[in-house]
Amino acid sequence: MSKSAHPASRTIERLRQLAEIGRVDGLQGTTRPGLDLREQRACELVAKWMREVGLDVVWDAYGNLFGSLPGSQSDAAEVWSGSHLDTVPDGGSFDGAVGVLCSLEAVVASGRRPATQRVVVFRDEEGWRFGRGFFGSRAVCGRLADGELETRDAGGVSVGEALAALAIEPVAAPVGLPASYVEVHVEQGPELERQGLALAEVSAIAGMAGFAIEFRGLSGHAGTVPMVGRSDALTAAAEFVLAMRDAALRIPGAVATVGDLRIADPAANVIPGRVALSLDLRASGAEQLSSLTDAVPAIARAAAAVAGCTAGATPTWRHAPMAMSGRVRAAIRDQAQALGHSIAAVPSGAGHDAGIMASAGVESGMLLVRSRNGGASHSPDELTDEADIAAAIEVLTMTLATLATC
Ligand code: HGY
Ligand code: MN
Ligand code: MN
Repeated sequence: MSKSAHPASRTIERLRQLAEIGRVDGLQGTTRPGLDLREQRACELVAKWMREVGLDVVWDAYGNLFGSLPGSQSDAAEVWSGSHLDTVPDGGSFDGAVGVLCSLEAVVASGRRPATQRVVVFRDEEGWRFGRGFFGSRAVCGRLADGELETRDAGGVSVGEALAALAIEPVAAPVGLPASYVEVHVEQGPELERQGLALAEVSAIAGMAGFAIEFRGLSGHAGTVPMVGRSDALTAAAEFVLAMRDAALRIPGAVATVGDLRIADPAANVIPGRVALSLDLRASGAEQLSSLTDAVPAIARAAAAVAGCTAGATPTWRHAPMAMSGRVRAAIRDQAQALGHSIAAVPSGAGHDAGIMASAGVESGMLLVRSRNGGASHSPDELTDEADIAAAIEVLTMTLATLATC
C-alpha cells in the first residue's frame, strides 16, 4: 500500500491484512485468542507499521505493545490511545483493530506535542480463553487477580505459559499510567445507524460480572434410566439458563448471557452427569447489577433442585459501571463539532479497556464509530464504512492534539 494513501483507506487495507491473521477454514470470520501466536502476529504487524512511521516501539512483560511519540516536555503527563487486537472465535475484523489503527494514524497526524503520546495495544481484551477479560489493561493498572498467571485454558495452558511461549523480547520496564486515554471503537450496536450518525462519544460503560456455574447430577445409561428420578445435569443447566433470562428481563436494560456450556465426557447415550457453564451479566447501574448477581446462587440452587442435581456458582470477575471523564468527553465533542461532525452521546453496553483505565484513575474517553448491518459485532457480519473511519481519525487526531498540548 503506498505510504501516501489516505489514512482511512490505509486503515481499511490494514484491517483487511489483519483479518487474514486468524482465518479458520470454513469460517467467515477471524479467530485470534488472547496471548496466542495469532494475536502476537497481529501485534507484530502493527509494531512494524509503528516503526515505519518513526514511533519508539516497546513491549511490556504482559505482551502489551506501545508505539510512542516522545513529547517536547518530558514532565508533561502522557496521553495514550489504543485498543486490542484479539478477537472472539469467528469474530469480525473491526472490533478492537479499528481503535488500534485509528490511534496509529491520529498520533502521527497529531505530531509532536508537549506530552508524550503512546499508541497502545492491550492484550487479551476479550477474555474468553482464560475466563477473564481486559488482561493487558488490568496488568498495566496493577489489577490482575491473585494467581491469575496460573489460570489455565481449556487445553490446560496457563496464562504464564502462554506469555512465555510468545517469547516477547526485549521487555521494557513498566511505563506507568498516562493522565488521559482515548479509545476509538466500533459501536457494536444499532443506535448510530438508526440515528444516521457516524460518531458517538461514550457517557459511561456498563457494569458487568462473570460467574463459573456447575451442575452435578448422575451420569447414566440413556436407555435404561427412567425419566422420573434422573439427575440430569444438562436439564438443570437448561432450567438455569431460562431462569437467568427471566431474571434479566425483570431489570430494565440488564442482560444475562450463557455463552459457553460444556458437558463433561459428552456422549449421545450418556445422561450428562456434570455440566459447566459461563455466565456474563451486565447492567448500567451498580444496584441493578447487584440485584442480578445477588440472585444467581438461589437461581442455580432452584434449577438444580428441579433436576435432582447440585449446583455451584463462583463469581469470577466484576467491573463496576464506569463514567467517562468529563474533560475527555468535552474534548471529543468540541473537536467533532469544530470539524463539522454531529456526534451522539451514548452509554456502552460493551466493556472496553477504557473502563479499566478509568477505574485506575486515568481520565478516559471513547469515540464510537458506526457499525453497519444493524450493529452486528462479535460476528463476521461486523462492518464499518471507510468514510466513518475517516471521520473518527480526524476527530481523534484533534482530540489527542488538544489533550497533549494542555
Ligand atoms: O465483552 C465485551 O463487552 C467486550 O467485547 N470484551
Ligand atoms: Mn472490543
Ligand atoms: Mn469484543
